[in-house]
Amino acid sequence: MSASSAQTLPQASLRRGRLSDLEALVALERDFFSSDHIISQRSFRRFISSPTSTLIVADMGGKVAGSALVLYRRGSNLARLYSIAVAAEFQRRGLARRLLAAVEDDAVRRGCRAMRLEVREDDPAAIALYETSGYQPFGKRALYYDGKVDALRFEKSLAAQPQRRSAAATGRPAAGGRIGFDGGHRARRSRQASRFRL
Ligand SMILES: CC(C)(COP(=O)(O)OP(=O)(O)OC[C@H]1O[C@@H](n2cnc3c(N)ncnc32)[C@H](O)[C@@H]1OP(=O)(O)O)[C@@H](O)C(=O)NCCC(=O)NCCS
Repeated sequence: MSASSAQTLPQASLRRGRLSDLEALVALERDFFSSDHIISQRSFRRFISSPTSTLIVADMGGKVAGSALVLYRRGSNLARLYSIAVAAEFQRRGLARRLLAAVEDDAVRRGCRAMRLEVREDDPAAIALYETSGYQPFGKRALYYDGKVDALRFEKSLAAQPQRRSAAATGRPAAGGRIGFDGGHRARRSRQASRFRL
């Protein structure tokens, strides 16, 4: 995308994922990940309605340009960034950074102290996104992806964020509920595709 075309594109708005987004969300998955590892429509449907997950969508004139999914677990004040992706045509415009900030804000409102994630060690774009967004490496999972690629673990403390509001203040519960997801590791269609699995 040229600089001039980027300037003429409308600004994306961020909003909660809706059932009407299901097809677009799965299509975005298919763009980047192999068919046996994508988040299914059924799973997206569950994440959209679950009290233990938040799905944020970047809406570009009615088109799903990207999404971020964060999961919560009962008894834990750690939020888990499960997925973030931006459609190729909308990349490098700051959408992932905005999506990340939105799910961090959601985690703060739920009383979480930190956001954690894992990322393929061969994904420099995603690693750069996290490193420049305040995430610190704290460990590694050997051969985590398809038994071949290591995962780097990152964490960001949410305690110091100025907009922090307590769960009590918002009237919303802290993270609760059991995450009923298989936790499997998705394969990527290409080396450029970015996905972490928590
Ligand atoms: C990782 C991903 C979520 C980033 O989304 P994005 O909207 O393009 O990211 P942003 O524009 O918010 O960039 C934020 C920061 O991330 C880093 N970054 C993003 N893309 C990068 C890239 N291709 N190379 C290096 N750093 C990158 C940079 O630090 C960037 O900050 P800067 O623009 O000020 O330098 C996106 O690349 C993605 O969805 N990847 C999965 C699919 C994929 O990789 N497809 C490509 C081929 S299939």
